[in-house]
Amino acid sequence: MKILITGGKGMLGRTLRRALGGEHELVVADLPDWDITKDDDFAARLLAVRPDVVIHCAAMTKVDDCETHRELAFRLNEDGTRNVALAAKLCGARLFAISTDYVFSGEPPREPWAWGEQDIPRPRTVYGASKFAGEQMAQMIYPDNTVILRIAWLYGAGGPSFVHTMAQLGADASGAPLKVVDDQRGNPTSTQVVADVIRFLLTKPDVSGIVHATCEEQCTWYELTCELRRLLGARFPRAVVPCTTAEFPRPAPRPRNSALKKSVLNVLGYRTPPWRAALADFVAREFALPGC
Ligand SMILES: NC(=O)c1ccc[n+]([C@@H]2O[C@H](COP(=O)([O-])OP(=O)(O)OC[C@H]3O[C@@H](n4cnc5c(N)ncnc54)[C@H](OP(=O)(O)O)[C@@H]3O)[C@@H](O)[C@H]2O)c1
Repeated sequence: MKILITGGKGMLGRTLRRALGGEHELVVADLPDWDITKDDDFAARLLAVRPDVVIHCAAMTKVDDCETHRELAFRLNEDGTRNVALAAKLCGARLFAISTDYVFSGEPPREPWAWGEQDIPRPRTVYGASKFAGEQMAQMIYPDNTVILRIAWLYGAGGPSFVHTMAQLGADASGAPLKVVDDQRGNPTSTQVVADVIRFLLTKPDVSGIVHATCEEQCTWYELTCELRRLLGARFPRAVVPCTTAEFPRPAPRPRNSALKKSVLNVLGYRTPPWRAALADFVAREFALPGC
């Protein structure tokens, strides 16, 4: 298949290129040549390439920056996704539009909880609202041939990601104990796991609509950091202590619980790995642990 990846130079895009490149012909569509906000130019380029599949990763992803640059966030995440969906429809390419757990409010009606594909999004941030607007554009324009793939708490080769930041901070043995938020829950997910899900969905051409694609099981940022510390051993000498969200105010409010239920993948008989297994696999490769 010929697969075009928007934002193909970003963190997820780079993993997709490595994971899919052996089996498929890939086209990396990123700035400066491929700009998703330039509607006619983007469509003309896509028509010239005529891919079978478009994986749309390009986005404004810095959650706090979106709060202060609202217009830009919607131009990229809503209008950009509309342009990609229109262009994909023009050439009949199947569309995978990558979205996020931040479409949900993070305030579950009860605990324990995980948000299902059928639950109604109520984003509380500009990032979440702009990504949800992009989802709606893609579904309205091209309902039969679009998969909205919601992912979360992403880390991948080269970063940047929470895992990379914590590995760096944790290496400082002389630093004061590292305070990490312990009252926000989600599903840490590696870009490799997302690539594996997409490879599976490429074999299911009839699947469309919303698909949640995160690792199994949930944790807090503190629990994720403790597991990273355990895996890195002597390379993470710094102590880690739990703290509350209130101690770390951010421009964009973070969801208290944005864990996702994988109903569609489960019905299809596909199970993503638990987050601990995916993290161990990633850490062994990214930080080249001895004996791995
Ligand atoms: N990272 C996470 O934790 C996370 C969680 C949930 C969902 N997601 C979603 O997953 C997808 C991939 O995320 P990621 O972490 O791989 O993002 P990323 O590393 O920020 O990559 C995004 C790519 O899109 C490019 N881009 C920006 N504006 C563009 C434009 N106008 N036209 C074309 N390309 C443009 C960026 O180029 P520049 O670098 O030059 O700007 C970058 O190469 C996004 O849709 C994101 O919303 C991410």
